Amino acid sequence: MITVFGSINMDLIATTERLPKPGETVAGNSFSTAAGGKGANQALAARRAGRAVHLAGAVGRDGFAGPALALLKDAGTQLEAVKQVDEPTGTALILVGGDGENMIAVVPGANGTVTAAGADLAVGAMSKGDILMLQLEIPVPAVERALAAARAGGVITVLNLAPLIDDAGRLGRIADIVIANETEFERLAGRENMGPDDREAALKQIHGETGQTLIVTLGADGVIAIRDSVIFRAKGLKIEPVDTVGAGDTFCGYFAAGLDEGLDFETALRRAAVAGSLACLTQGAQPSIPLSADVANKL
Ligand code: RIB
Repeated sequence: MITVFGSINMDLIATTERLPKPGETVAGNSFSTAAGGKGANQALAARRAGRAVHLAGAVGRDGFAGPALALLKDAGTQLEAVKQVDEPTGTALILVGGDGENMIAVVPGANGTVTAAGADLAVGAMSKGDILMLQLEIPVPAVERALAAARAGGVITVLNLAPLIDDAGRLGRIADIVIANETEFERLAGRENMGPDDREAALKQIHGETGQTLIVTLGADGVIAIRDSVIFRAKGLKIEPVDTVGAGDTFCGYFAAGLDEGLDFETALRRAAVAGSLACLTQGAQPSIPLSADVANKL
């Protein structure tokens, strides 16, 4: 079983020909809203991959709470551990440029009320061998307690180092499996401007020190990973991205689902990379997460 302990947002999305520079105003082409939040997106991806998934987190008592959880509910995600609190539901203001790239500002709202006590509750309901998936969009003390409680209970921890925060390097050393993009991995490694050779060397070095499984997502170039001292590479699909929001979350959720299902590591990476590619073809984080049959058709 997979439990995702993390953020739940409503995404407010504007598309533009190109992203504005600081201080610049550009005309928008369209506006839409969609369910988002890194925790919620990863939970939905794991669920759409076919696994039993619990989501723990918080939403407000406002008009965004229902729509933020609607797709998760429709998919059969267990939402009993999502609390309703007095802060507003988290929101993300997202600009998507013509090339599919984006800029995001997140206002945590209810996500900021998630506590270490909430971590104890979420992890306390898990069993040895279950998978706990975390990101860095809820308060650090909650993430830290969840990692510690999971370790004590024999729960496997998967930490996605997104979004990049000051504590990412430290927290990234205490999860069993870490998923990071290039910039996040540089924070974990404590170095900047890494080329492919530097990255591979840093993966080997950290793995040698900690024994962790480490996965670095490389956008269109797929992923590189290390597990049990072996380097793995996997590619997604060649695509023209429409909107990359949620692609990383789709990768994370599908990867956790693959582990939970007992897929071998390389197959889990490849399936997750393909799912992440497919998530770039439709606008909006959760609406773009593919179903397992659609991913299977492209493997
Ligand atoms: O990773 C994408 C997500 O980041 C969006 O859904 C947005 O809510 C922000 O949390």
